[in-house]
Parts: sequence; structure tokens; C-alpha cells
Amino acid sequence: MRKTIGIDAGGTLTKVAYLNDQNEFQFKAFPSKDLSMVKEWIESFPEIEEIGITGGRTEQLLSKLKINKPIDYVVEFDATIKGVKYLLKKEGHNIQKSIITNVGTGTSIHYMDNEKHVRVGGTGIGGGTLTGLATIITGLSDFKEITEIAKQGKREFIDLFVKDIFEGMEPPIEGHLTASNFGKVNLLNNTSYKIPDLLATIQALVGEVITTLSIQYADMKNSETIIYIGSTLANNEHLKEVIANYTILKKHTPVFLKDCGFSGAIGALLNKVEQREIAKT
Ligand SMILES: Nc1ncnc2c1ncn2[C@@H]1O[C@H](COP(=O)(O)OP(=O)(O)OP(=O)(O)O)[C@@H](O)[C@H]1O
Ligand SMILES: [Mg+2]
Repeated sequence: MRKTIGIDAGGTLTKVAYLNDQNEFQFKAFPSKDLSMVKEWIESFPEIEEIGITGGRTEQLLSKLKINKPIDYVVEFDATIKGVKYLLKKEGHNIQKSIITNVGTGTSIHYMDNEKHVRVGGTGIGGGTLTGLATIITGLSDFKEITEIAKQGKREFIDLFVKDIFEGMEPPIEGHLTASNFGKVNLLNNTSYKIPDLLATIQALVGEVITTLSIQYADMKNSETIIYIGSTLANNEHLKEVIANYTILKKHTPVFLKDCGFSGAIGALLNKVEQREIAKT
């Protein structure tokens, strides 16, 4: 039953959400650098009657599609929050007020309080940084491979921890905190680094920047929870662990959603259904 589909045409990935015959969400992701794959997929399902769409590459995709079906565009932040609310309910969370950090190609940070939501900030450090740095430093560019190998790595020969500086002394802050990401490189005489260690260190750099910023906004908005979403977290247990540990250390509660990459696509679909119902009345 692919009557209505939701599309989130993002910087790196174009995500599609639709409902199956059991009314359960199904998902697909395509590389945004090849939007013709999305076009072919849509054209292969003539039963698609209407499309809800969001994301920065909406215009690029629509100019390729040239189809004569009702299409509703919704701004990315509205779609994302709508999708997050749906997933929270589905996964049994009861959170009214939270920071929502969307780790996409870059990272966008939102604050949600009941019916209101606002984008509070962001950073260019995101999933694109992870794969970009990994490619330049290790030659590996496949996201799945990067995240699988990162799991096996150790940061201790590359990252400088607080306890490394305060050796023999009681440090003023927790010793295992990172004092400087990649900061040990020029302090040791190592000349070669293992690929898993490099990837684990890159993941930690990205994760810690994102978490630091999210915590600052959470403190500012007096929000206990931080919901982390975006495809960068998809099957990426290592990055989630970095984010969770640091969030908890800073006395906030991290929340991860199962279908973390698809909130925009879900929101675009739900918005399309709502618009159709409004049009009927
Ligand atoms: N199959 C994949 N191919 C490429 N990157 C992937 C894949 N799966 C996960 N990723 C990671 O997810 C990131 C993209 O996340 P996401 O799809 O949420 O962002 P986006 O919507 O494309 O970007 P933005 O919201 O910033 O426009 C990539 O940068 C990469 O780190
Ligand atoms: Mg996105």
C-alpha cells in the first residue's frame, strides 16, 4: 500500500517512508548524489497517489520527477519534529519538552516544548564530517565499513585526556574527559596509527562536539532530555556510546530512536495526509 509516500531529500541521503498493508512504516534510503534512483523507484510504483516532501534537495528532486500527482512540501524542521513526535509515541516515550539534535550531513539543534518548537542552533560538524575526515585520513569512505571498524578502535594513542596532562596529580575535572581531540599526536613519537584507532578518534571528535553543543542548549532551555536523531546514528553503536556517555556525565538523559534517520520522511508523509484531510473539509 504505497498510496502516500513521504520523502526527505537531504544533503547526503534521500529517505522515503511509506505504510505497508499492515499500516506499519517501511523505509528506504538513496544517495542524494544520484536522485535518478529515487525517480526510478517512484516510477516503479504506479499505486503512489500523493507525495509529501521535505529537505534541502526538494527542488532538485522535484525538477527531476516531473510527475502529475499531488505533492505537498513542508519545511524540514516542521517535518522533523512531527516525525520525532510520532516515533516517540510509537516507541513508548512520554517526552513533552526536549532538545532534539539532528545529526545529518551537518547538525541541526531544536528545542521542543509541547506544541512549540524552535531551531536553536547547529554546527557544521556532522555525518559529512565523519565520512569526510575518515576518507581523507584512512581512505575508507563507506559509512557501514567506517562505523564497523571504528567499534574496534581505541583513542588512547591519539586523543589527549585530562589525566594525561595531570599525571601524578588530582585533576580539577574528571580525568577521563578529552582534553584535546587528536591532541596526543604531536606529544608522542608515534608515526603510524591503526585505522580502527583513527576511526574511533574521528567518531569521538564528531560525537563530543555535537554533545557539548547539545548540552549547552539543554542547560539554556532547562531541558533534561536530549533526543539524538539523524542517519549518522543509524547502526552506529560506537558514536551513540560516545554521545550517551558524555550526555549522562553532564547530567542529561540521552534518547535514541530506532528509526532515527527517517523522522523527516515520516513527518512529510503525516503532513501530506493532514493537508489532504484539511482540503476535504
Ligand atoms: N548508506 C549511507 N551512505 C552514506 N552515508 C550514510 C549512510 N548511512 C548513514 N550515513 C551517515 O548519515 C549521514 C547523513 O545523515 P542524514 O541522512 O540524516 O542527513 P541528510 O538529511 O542527508 O543531511 P542534512 O539533513 O544535513 O541535509 C552521512 O553523512 C553519513 O555519516
Ligand atoms: Mg536531514
